[in-house]
Amino acid sequence: MVTDHPRVRVLEPDELRASTDLFRTAVHGTPLDDDGWRRGGSRHVPGRTLGAFEDLPAGGGTAAELVGTAMSFPCRTAVPGGAGVDTAAVSLVGVRPDRTRRGHLSALMRTQLADVAARGEVLATLRASETGIYGRFGYGIATRGRKVRIRAAAALRPDAPGGGTVRMVPLDRARTELPAVAERLALQRTGGMTRFGRWWPAFLEGYGPAAEFRGTAVHSGPDGDDGWAVWTVDAGDGGDTIRVLDLHAADAGASAELWRFLLGMDLVADVTGGLRPLDEDLSLLLADPREFRVEGLADETWLRLVDVPAALGARAWGDAAPVVLRVHDRLLPANDGAVRIGPDGPKPVEDTTAADLECDVDALAMAYLGDRRPSELVTAGWWRAHDDAAVARADTLFATPGVVPWCGTFF
Ligand SMILES: CC(C)(COP(=O)(O)OP(=O)(O)OC[C@H]1O[C@@H](n2cnc3c(N)ncnc32)[C@H](O)[C@@H]1OP(=O)(O)O)[C@@H](O)C(=O)NCCC(=O)NCCS
Repeated sequence: MVTDHPRVRVLEPDELRASTDLFRTAVHGTPLDDDGWRRGGSRHVPGRTLGAFEDLPAGGGTAAELVGTAMSFPCRTAVPGGAGVDTAAVSLVGVRPDRTRRGHLSALMRTQLADVAARGEVLATLRASETGIYGRFGYGIATRGRKVRIRAAAALRPDAPGGGTVRMVPLDRARTELPAVAERLALQRTGGMTRFGRWWPAFLEGYGPAAEFRGTAVHSGPDGDDGWAVWTVDAGDGGDTIRVLDLHAADAGASAELWRFLLGMDLVADVTGGLRPLDEDLSLLLADPREFRVEGLADETWLRLVDVPAALGARAWGDAAPVVLRVHDRLLPANDGAVRIGPDGPKPVEDTTAADLECDVDALAMAYLGDRRPSELVTAGWWRAHDDAAVARADTLFATPGVVPWCGTFF
């Protein structure tokens, strides 16, 4: 572990519970009791949780107190072309509310990025509580999701896809059956990520002090289990709301069958989903398309290209004449430079003044998985174009035809 900051170090195993409680305090939660810690604590990986310390008054003198924390766990991210790229999933980031705006997060982020780079992990990914925090550390929005609501009892069209069997599974079986399907489907879609085994217990039982209700169902098709759904229920006067926390399937038939099951449940008013893929248009499946409503659009994956050459080398590229892209990275100087990107991938360019296009590393992440086209990023001022003809070529090179990137894992 690289720790070049005097106030930041790797936490010892017996400090991890305090780190989790600190994070929970930062997000206005309560400390965990033993049962909550059993579930929530499972996410820490030895050597990957950092603490920031500050000397604070104590008993007439001063003592170094834990005031900030950030952890990461290893996973892989599916990039255009299908490769699974080593990634650090960053989570449990928080600074004690009385010690904010003193540079603790900056020290944690710098230390963590250096550590991730030293581990050879090519990308870092996170989910942001607020949009103003992570851009300065090189993270950009790389996938987005939609908040959707469907009136329960909405019927699917008779000729909508479907088939196979949906079965509810009790929690003890869900703990093994869901990770097994998830492992197979994790990288099938650009933007998808593998799920660290110890991510599951907190997700399936709730992150809070008390275990929360989770409904779980698995879909089986001709080749066995090929999809699943996890939901919770919010009680309401006019019927309950099924809140879908997780729904993934190998194909359109399995996906439609899982939605058909959820919509057909008794005593339910609405079914909602929080960060569903932008191209999951359930109105096409319903007899009455108005029973599907899109209620919002939100950022999902915040991605950091930690090793830009390796990240660019890992993905597939479209067919166009090359462009030279100047990438700026204030925090990781090895990424700062120019690269020629063509259908065969990236090649370093010595002369950084010869660039057709220019962007900061956070804005490169916005195009990396195909969520944003270079031309729209130029128009919006995220990228700068020195050669207008190169913009259309960059669009073709970065394009992921027919694929809308989406992750579908919250951590
Ligand atoms: C977000 C949080 C971690 C920031 O920690 P911090 O130690 O105050 O951050 P720093 O002092 O290192 O700030 C670094 C920079 O980010 C800015 N910044 C920090 N938090 C910000 C926020 N929430 N919104 C916008 N800017 C923010 C600071 O102003 C500073 O800017 P500067 O470099 O131009 O001076 C902390 O406020 C916190 O714990 N918030 C609640 C929990 C949370 O949201 N955690 C993130 C979960 S994804």
